[in-house]
Amino acid sequence: EKGGYEHFMLKEIFEQPKSIHDTMRGRLLVEEGVIKMAGIWDHVERFKNANRIIIIACGTSWHAGLIGEYLIEEYARIPVEVEYASEFRYRNPIITDKDVVIAISQSGETADTMAALKLAKEKGAFIYGICNVVDSSIARITDAGSYTHAGPEIGVASTKAFTAQLTILTLIAFKLGKHNGNLGNADFMSLIAELDAIPKRVEEVLSSTHEQIQQIAKDFVSTSNFLYLGRGYNYPAALEGALKLKEISYIHAEGYPAAEMKHGPIALIDENMPIVIIAPKKGHYDKIVSNVQEIKARKGKIIAVVNKGDRQVSEMADYVIEIPETSECFSPIVASVPLQLLAYYIAVYRGANVDQPRNLAKSVTVE
Ligand code: M6R
Repeated sequence: EKGGYEHFMLKEIFEQPKSIHDTMRGRLLVEEGVIKMAGIWDHVERFKNANRIIIIACGTSWHAGLIGEYLIEEYARIPVEVEYASEFRYRNPIITDKDVVIAISQSGETADTMAALKLAKEKGAFIYGICNVVDSSIARITDAGSYTHAGPEIGVASTKAFTAQLTILTLIAFKLGKHNGNLGNADFMSLIAELDAIPKRVEEVLSSTHEQIQQIAKDFVSTSNFLYLGRGYNYPAALEGALKLKEISYIHAEGYPAAEMKHGPIALIDENMPIVIIAPKKGHYDKIVSNVQEIKARKGKIIAVVNKGDRQVSEMADYVIEIPETSECFSPIVASVPLQLLAYYIAVYRGANVDQPRNLAKSVTVE
């Protein structure tokens, strides 16, 4: 059932070219220049006229929501807020019937997300679900939704569900942007062609980085802290990279927007602090270069995720992981893959129970 892999997590990491493809299947019609999503289309005016979209979720799904905010605001120009379901439900939030609330949940059973949705529904918001598990509680209570179709995810650490959530959010952002005129036809056409090729890009990353990451992981088996940094779309990717590592390897890890470093975390940097920095060409590259210089000056150990052929960051880094170049909005999908592998191998080498980490459950059905 693990398909020859040692753990479900590794199997699920390697399934991503297929799961991302499955998420787009029947929805992304590149030749016709169309994105078909009945859940969105049937209620497109609700979205178009929404005062704002509020995304609620927990954990990894919340990280996907943060990237969703960047996507929807950039391409559809609809204001988006992202909130932890557990906070939203207890702070008497202002919700009206002009709001659209999107819940993101792999399991569709997370208690806090479910309760937050019920509250939003009571207050008259239109509620939309992005779930992986078909016919789950959240999928049933929502007014409409889109399944991610990533297939069953068994490993407690979410991997393929995350990249499937990003795929759905990308489709939603492009579809709404095209419909409301904020995303012009030429840009739409080139973005969807690029999206269509993302499963291939992920395949490339898996094969080009798999062995290298096993080597890198060996050097960090006894480390007790990690920092993950990224900017723009890759700031949430940094948060997600850090969450993966802490969940399964029990190494303390923090994700930060790279520019926030100088507001505190930089005090932590010395020769014992490994820093994973996501630094693709498109997306504040020059700013990232100066962040890397600051880290280098303090002797931090730099593990850089860069585009093929990168020079500036690579020259300063202790370890260089190359990913193919994409438009900025797709880079969290591609950059997350090596970070999943890094967390996985560090945990394996530490002898941790990767699929069933201590204290964690696959779906958190109590608050
Ligand atoms: O099933 P959900 O997406 O609602 O779950 C939310 C979180 O509990 C989940 O993402 C958790 O953070 C994972 N263990 C992350 O790998």
